[in-house]
Amino acid sequence: MENNKRGSWGSNFGFLMAAIGSAVGLGNIWGFPYKMGKSGGFTFLLVYVALAIFVGFAIMCSEFALGRKTGSGPIAAYKQYTKRFSGIGWLALLAPALIMTFYSVLGGYCIYYIGINAAGIFGGMPGGESFGALLSNPWMGIGMTLLFMVICYFINRGGISGGIEKFNKIGMPALFVMLVIIIIRALTLANAVEGLKFMFVPGYAVEAGFIEEAPSLISVLATAGGQMFFSLSLAMGAMITYGSYLGKHENLPKNSLVIVICDSLVALMAGLAVIPAAVANGINNGIAVADIKLSGPNLLFSTLQDVFHNMGPLGGIFGFIFYILVLIAAISSAISLIEVIVTMIIDRNTGKGKGPSRSKITAVVCVLITAVACLVAADGLGSTGIAPINLLQKINPDFPMAMWNDCWLDFMDTWSEGLAMPIGAMIMALVIGWEQGPNSLYNEIKIGYKGNMHLFYVICIRFLVPVAMAFITAGQISDFFGNVTAGYIIAGVLLVVFFALTFLSGRKLKKG
Ligand code: TRP
Repeated sequence: MENNKRGSWGSNFGFLMAAIGSAVGLGNIWGFPYKMGKSGGFTFLLVYVALAIFVGFAIMCSEFALGRKTGSGPIAAYKQYTKRFSGIGWLALLAPALIMTFYSVLGGYCIYYIGINAAGIFGGMPGGESFGALLSNPWMGIGMTLLFMVICYFINRGGISGGIEKFNKIGMPALFVMLVIIIIRALTLANAVEGLKFMFVPGYAVEAGFIEEAPSLISVLATAGGQMFFSLSLAMGAMITYGSYLGKHENLPKNSLVIVICDSLVALMAGLAVIPAAVANGINNGIAVADIKLSGPNLLFSTLQDVFHNMGPLGGIFGFIFYILVLIAAISSAISLIEVIVTMIIDRNTGKGKGPSRSKITAVVCVLITAVACLVAADGLGSTGIAPINLLQKINPDFPMAMWNDCWLDFMDTWSEGLAMPIGAMIMALVIGWEQGPNSLYNEIKIGYKGNMHLFYVICIRFLVPVAMAFITAGQISDFFGNVTAGYIIAGVLLVVFFALTFLSGRKLKKG
């Protein structure tokens, strides 16, 4: 199917699986269920779905349209689309690279856990303490990261339809089936219902003592928005890149809708698979609910490994299936992040008249990512004394510990997902809405789409998205500085300044 030099998707199903694969990742499994439980259960779900439809869906359509219209990855796409603000294309290079430096480490941990659960089937099944041991063993972490990157390399080297599409066409349906198996096992554990209540019943998390106090409405909004963006793989160039390989006959809104629905569905299903099991295991073993770790790497690799450990003889089998499922989710997201960078370089080379040489480019990109990832792996979530805070305190012993400097994983995550992503998306929406005008992309969306969502699109892109992004940015900056007022002031200033800049630039374009 690689009929032109860049290649293209072999089928609509293949494209959908790849895009869903990009969206479904670690964020769905360890982020969504916990945030939902903590932030109001079913109420949070409604907020999340509303944000996904009014903000996520519009941005996703826009990214696909921008990619298809320009036929190139983010940097070249933004250069063609907007001269003055083409700098956001560079954010779309930086953010995926930073995310990959820790995503690959986590993917490596999955491989490790597949191994120890497989071995555990035959006896000697380890529990949650194994995670501490893994973290304090830098060489094991580095080795597993390397293995994960090698797998990704071979998939990306195969190209769009020959590698990425092929992997996802098998991987995504397989993931779904395995998820169902794990859900059935999880929900039949004693006390699983407590976990369900935590996830779905508004206010239960506080009532039952999972958390001390309920988060404020604003912070719920920021949490839901941030999660939605990360989970849908938005604002990092991934969907622009995948869109650039789409044919003109494809229906962008329909595809976007399917992706949004599937991603939210898998997030909910992942919740059913992990939270009830983790809570049940905690209660059955006399652990106070406040002490059960229900999110992040600790949920995945410590709490859940304990669950499999306590399941008895079949624990190894369920653990094995579960970590394969998580690995597939991690790989399918990672290859989309790598592809953003690979596509960008391929486009640059072909622009200069050089051949695409995908293998060579993929190798270089993977090696560079791995080099930095080794630092994150050796850091072991800050357990080996080489975290940013350790280095900063060598310079100034009083340097305060914060979310962005306590370990290299959080450092990379804060800069990419925490800051580059919301700010980039806010500027992107303002450029579409006020500089180039919504029709610049709506005309592309209309190709292959027979319905009419013009008014909806204009309202979303001009008003709802920028304001929502400002809130998310405010939430993130508040976390960064540990100061809520600073967050709102900085986010507000950014919104006003970039609105003014894009608005004025748009007027000039009209006159000129
Ligand atoms: N969506 C992925 C997840 O839920 C992670 C992710 C965030 C991502 N941004 C991305 C993946 C950009 C690919 C491209 O875990």
